[in-house]
Amino acid sequence: MTPRILVVGSSGQLGTALRRLGDPAITCAGRPVIDVMRPDTIMAAVAAARPDVVVNASAFTAVDAAEADEAGALDVNARGAALLAAAAGEAGAPIIHVSTDYVFAGDKGSPYLEDDATGPLTAYGRSKLAGEGTVARANPRHVIVRTSWLFGTSDRTFVASVLRLARERERIEMVADQLGSPTFAGDLAAALVAMATDIAGREDYDWGVRHVAGAHASRFEFAEAVLDVAAAHGMRRPELVPTRLASFKAAAPRPLDTRLDSRFPGGRTRSFREAVPALVAELIAR
Ligand SMILES: NC(=O)c1ccc[n+]([C@@H]2O[C@H](COP(=O)([O-])OP(=O)(O)OC[C@H]3O[C@@H](n4cnc5c(N)ncnc54)[C@H](OP(=O)(O)O)[C@@H]3O)[C@@H](O)[C@H]2O)c1
Repeated sequence: MTPRILVVGSSGQLGTALRRLGDPAITCAGRPVIDVMRPDTIMAAVAAARPDVVVNASAFTAVDAAEADEAGALDVNARGAALLAAAAGEAGAPIIHVSTDYVFAGDKGSPYLEDDATGPLTAYGRSKLAGEGTVARANPRHVIVRTSWLFGTSDRTFVASVLRLARERERIEMVADQLGSPTFAGDLAAALVAMATDIAGREDYDWGVRHVAGAHASRFEFAEAVLDVAAAHGMRRPELVPTRLASFKAAAPRPLDTRLDSRFPGGRTRSFREAVPALVAELIAR
């Protein structure tokens, strides 16, 4: 049976996926009902939900905007996350806190494991790494779940963007030398619920960091899989042209290779090749 789970950050990609599971044991809440910067809202939401486990799916995720507002990113990703973790602890609940592959520099040359050295290149990555520390200190019963290249049903997702570009352009450029582990938000949501079920009520768990992510790919391979499925649905197929990350201009540098592996069983969600067909069908039908 699913324990009582309070999910914070209900309107985001991951929050939406957790909501879509439709499990009555899962309470999803977001701003303004619960704002991780406002302890009064945290206390009220925790008291109302009486959770066995709290899942933090909220974050300041605007990677480029964080370069100009590192303090704002730290507020949400480190300070707010710790307030939530502490409130969970005071209510007797462990916290599952979601973190990112961007805590790594991307220069290892092979997939990262949980105990590999971190070295974020960006303000966002630094704020998330700081949050891993503040959450761990605020609640000893914590699991920090790092994931990578999350994609879901929102119109802001990578998959929706590729479909939009395919409608608008004859030719799409896609970075071929940047590697990650595309992770379907619905699969991560299910993995987090399984983890919550495993840790609820336990003291003896091996608390700490876990990697949960899908199969490895380049942006180019991921986009190619999306276009293949879209073409099977009758969409025009634009030319897909490989480019290099070095030619991608943005405020925040992107790490080159943040593929994630895990030292633990259960760290691998479905490959994007398995998850993309149903997602593309859903997005096309909208
Ligand atoms: N997206 C990726 O590719 C990716 C990759 C690796 C790891 N992750 C991690 O995965 C987690 C989920 O990411 P996501 O893509 O689902 O993020 P997202 O779509 O950007 O959603 C973030 C959520 O956080 C909420 N939020 C922001 N500030 C808040 C605050 N002060 N109090 C309460 N809620 C607040 C937002 O609410 P509003 O709607 O009110 O703004 C939104 O619901 C994050 O920890 C992220 O770092 C994401």
